[in-house]
Amino acid sequence: MQEKIEALLTEIEQLTASTAEEVEALRIRYLGKKGIISSMMNEFRDVPADQKRAVGMKMNALKQAATERIEQLKNQFAQNGTSTGAVDLSRTAYPVALGTRHPLSIVREEICDIFKRLGFTIAEGPEVEDDWHVFSSLNFADDHPARDMQDTFFIQHDPQVVLRTHTSSVQTRVMEQTDPPIRIICPGRVYRNEAISYRAHCFFHQVEALYIDKDVSFADLKQALLFFAREMFGAGTKIRLRPSYFPFTEPSAEMDISCNICGGEGCPFCKHTGWVEILGCGMVDPNVLENCGINSKEYTGYALGMGIERITNLKYQVKDLRMFSENDLRFLEQFRAAH
Ligand code: DAH
Repeated sequence: MQEKIEALLTEIEQLTASTAEEVEALRIRYLGKKGIISSMMNEFRDVPADQKRAVGMKMNALKQAATERIEQLKNQFAQNGTSTGAVDLSRTAYPVALGTRHPLSIVREEICDIFKRLGFTIAEGPEVEDDWHVFSSLNFADDHPARDMQDTFFIQHDPQVVLRTHTSSVQTRVMEQTDPPIRIICPGRVYRNEAISYRAHCFFHQVEALYIDKDVSFADLKQALLFFAREMFGAGTKIRLRPSYFPFTEPSAEMDISCNICGGEGCPFCKHTGWVEILGCGMVDPNVLENCGINSKEYTGYALGMGIERITNLKYQVKDLRMFSENDLRFLEQFRAAH
């Protein structure tokens, strides 16, 4: 038995392999459960008692030598994988995991597309704004509550720099720089200092529309609103305008649509009224036109603004506003089919 061990030791020292598969075959041959060394362990039982100690030590040395040699051969391929085919350069690529569009982006695009069909073009403005574009130019009185610390994030007090609280600031930027006719739609992020809950967040998204030309009337506004509501929520959608107040429009209105969840029958979402409010609108106040250098005797216009989260809620019934900014893939992946 001792000679057999010696012979195996030399054999093992000289082992070579040219692929990782060959190494694995050698491992099974020598160290596997039914391999050469295992079967020799069985023979060990028959070794006379006085030789057991010496033979035992040799057996252990053999096992160790085999393990080390095979490990060495294995490493050779791990370091030098390409030349041995361990990396298969001809195999097809792993599928690329595609992301999904964010629900707010999907809805923003949809809103913009509808207005583009009416001839509106996209306009953008800064999120870090000055008091003039967010408030003063839009006819907010100096003591208007919207300027309050509770609502507005102030970045600097003098001169006043704020995070815009609505996208109406883009209206005045465009009016200052462009001669009518103006027909723009302004999507963007806005900020308000609100406690975060399922129904309020410190930032959200709005889309603003503005149309200025000669003889623009409230009837034009109403037509655009009806077109928008039907395109967005389906041909059977009804609209309802309620008088309201905004500093920058006169007259002003809020628009409700027939609840698209219950079809106007009444449900918890519409608080059993059959209607849900979706936007604010009105005829641009002549003061705003004049503030931006547009002759209010010659031109009139309408404006409207809506929250994208609100519209998305109505379309997809997202109950908790915070879901939109938490980046939970389980939530986001549900919108795979929506675009
Ligand atoms: N800026 C308003 C808000 O943030 C929304 C709005 C209302 C925009 C009426 C308008 C408008 O253009 O005409 O609540």
